[in-house]
Amino acid sequence: MSTAPRRRVLLGISAGIAAYKSAQLARLLKQSGCEVRVVMTDGAQAFITPLTLQALTGEPVRTSLLDPEAEAGMGHIELARWADLILIAPATADLMARLAHGHADDLLTTLCLASDAEKAMAPAMNQAMWRQPATARNAHRLTEDGWRLLGPDSGDQACGDVGPGRMLEPEAILGALAAPADRPAEGVRVVITAGPTREPLDPVRYLSNHSSGKMGYALAAAATALGARVQLISGPVALPTPAGVERFDVESAGEMHEAAQRLAGGCDLFIGCAAVADYRAEAPAEHKLKKRHDEDTLTLRLVKNPDIIAAVAARPDRPYVVGFAAETRELAAYAHDKLTRKHLDMVVANDVSRAGLGFGADDNAALLLWREDETTGQADLPPQPKADLAEAVIRRALARLAD
Ligand code: C5P
Repeated sequence: MSTAPRRRVLLGISAGIAAYKSAQLARLLKQSGCEVRVVMTDGAQAFITPLTLQALTGEPVRTSLLDPEAEAGMGHIELARWADLILIAPATADLMARLAHGHADDLLTTLCLASDAEKAMAPAMNQAMWRQPATARNAHRLTEDGWRLLGPDSGDQACGDVGPGRMLEPEAILGALAAPADRPAEGVRVVITAGPTREPLDPVRYLSNHSSGKMGYALAAAATALGARVQLISGPVALPTPAGVERFDVESAGEMHEAAQRLAGGCDLFIGCAAVADYRAEAPAEHKLKKRHDEDTLTLRLVKNPDIIAAVAARPDRPYVVGFAAETRELAAYAHDKLTRKHLDMVVANDVSRAGLGFGADDNAALLLWREDETTGQADLPPQPKADLAEAVIRRALARLAD
């Protein structure tokens, strides 16, 4: 799920000691922009009070199916329809059993049965209960029914035992929800170039550009989350390496080209997202260039850099090749030109003149062009966070790859 603003989350709390962490979870969900309504089972109220959750969410907490007052407002069916996501944390062994068998004997189970929303639960119980074949059967059945099971974690338990059954920490629950549920890129190796290049003029100066690397890093994170093995060839940027990504730091286009050639052989998908300098100094000075007092101009002689992505696309063992096109006008025409001239399979074209999008920004929009047998496929991806756009691009490329 994306924790994008205005997601409507129905947070179900059942009777586990981990319920005290549900307060923090409600807070984090609110902070990430979700609307949150809480439903508690009878047993849950022995561990944490509805008042706590009401204060944190700013909404009345529902506890009973047979509550005439509540039914006069948002009745249980409306509540079931209201939710985009039903998240149960903690989910006890008993609640899992009841849900696995389709029971509707209290408000929470009834809502689950009455709702078509996305459903996720964070199981929490004693390690022996989690290990029971009956619980394993229920967990399996719930997964088959479309529930996402988040955790449980392993470690110290409130009862003194050590083992699997701890509820995931609220931060980890949010992280797991943000990750895609499927892994269509399992077994796929992806090589991505990202960021700017630096072309030395002398030992202290270089030619470069404003690329932040955010889009390339978002692509690397998205491909990893979808199950790919990702190798990221990165120019100098101020970004942390996304978890699970192998990063290769380079500076110049020449170094990037060499790394790309080394890694591209046998990879399935190559994405050129780097803003590669088109030219470099023909002969970088060995020592710092001194200011000339007798002349007002300085002439630098530049030579063309290798076209990294075109060289990958020209390999006999070429992977599926996706390029980027940053344009300020005639987006479709220039993107189409890039697709054919560089022999790419797909082009992601951004209009970098649009305020708040593209270079350095957190959001981006794109026009996607790809080769189809004799024609060109096309899709418009509207302005959205770079992380979402990255996932959409990877999914499209994977779909084309599978064709
Ligand atoms: O030619 P242009 O720079 O507009 O093309 C952009 C695409 O080509 C991007 O995918 C970029 O990463 C790639 N590129 C490259 N090597 C270059 C120049 C661009 O891989 N020398």
